[in-house]
Amino acid sequence: MHFIFAHYQRSAEMLRQRAGGFVPEILMILGSGLGALADELERPVCVPYAEIPYFRPSTAPGHAGRLVLGYLEGRPVAVMQGRMHYYEGYSLEEIAYPVRVARLLGARTMIVTNAAGCVNRDWAAGDLMLLTDHIKLFLDSPLRGENLAEFGPRFPDVSTLYTPALRALARAAAAELGLTLREGVYCFFPGPQYETPAEVRAARILGADAVGMSTVPEALAARHCGMEVLGLSLLTNMAAGILDQPLSEQEVLEAAGAARDRFARLVRRCVAGL
Ligand code: HPA
Repeated sequence: MHFIFAHYQRSAEMLRQRAGGFVPEILMILGSGLGALADELERPVCVPYAEIPYFRPSTAPGHAGRLVLGYLEGRPVAVMQGRMHYYEGYSLEEIAYPVRVARLLGARTMIVTNAAGCVNRDWAAGDLMLLTDHIKLFLDSPLRGENLAEFGPRFPDVSTLYTPALRALARAAAAELGLTLREGVYCFFPGPQYETPAEVRAARILGADAVGMSTVPEALAARHCGMEVLGLSLLTNMAAGILDQPLSEQEVLEAAGAARDRFARLVRRCVAGL
């Protein structure tokens, strides 16, 4: 389905009514096993995706599938507790849909998080990574099709997609908390199968530090409509072929659980510093 501007307006209007005119400054998208931060919002209003016009349900494990509007560190935020992925069968446009709705509600900043496989052999599973850039080679774009000029230009510049000032903020936040924060390039793969060892080697040669199945569609849509973007990965596992062991969803969710508090503290500190 190709969305027109009126679709986005309708979703935004429904949410505005449901949350009594709430205006979020920040959209947060919480990835696999990282959704618990949404439970820490003050004065939360929870809206299941199934109740929001044109939102698609999130079917992935560890993704609750609801939007939570409320306050974190005193700031009004909209939190996607779970997201849609390409491997669930959604188009990139459908995946990016909530980002544009959040922009219409007032959000100017997006903090997007994910679980990812680590491709950089100098790092380890459990490390946190700040996205400096991404690689998405073979798939189309969430912006493919008629351009909705209400959101942004036909050919958006993405040379600084992950906002440098927000990267500096995250760096400072990690230092204050005494956390190690890696910085690197995230390479998008469509999934749902994990990558082959050859794909991981190729990604590394191309300049990737991490591989994952999310984030890039939302980041492109956010940049298109003028939002500032902060991307954070939790490197839940060494990517395929790096260690002599198979990958499992269980491993990813366990690593996400183990890093949850560290990750939440970092995100909170970033929100407080915005
Ligand atoms: N590859 C892709 N996506 C992932 C991985 C991985 O190794 N780990 C967590 N999400």
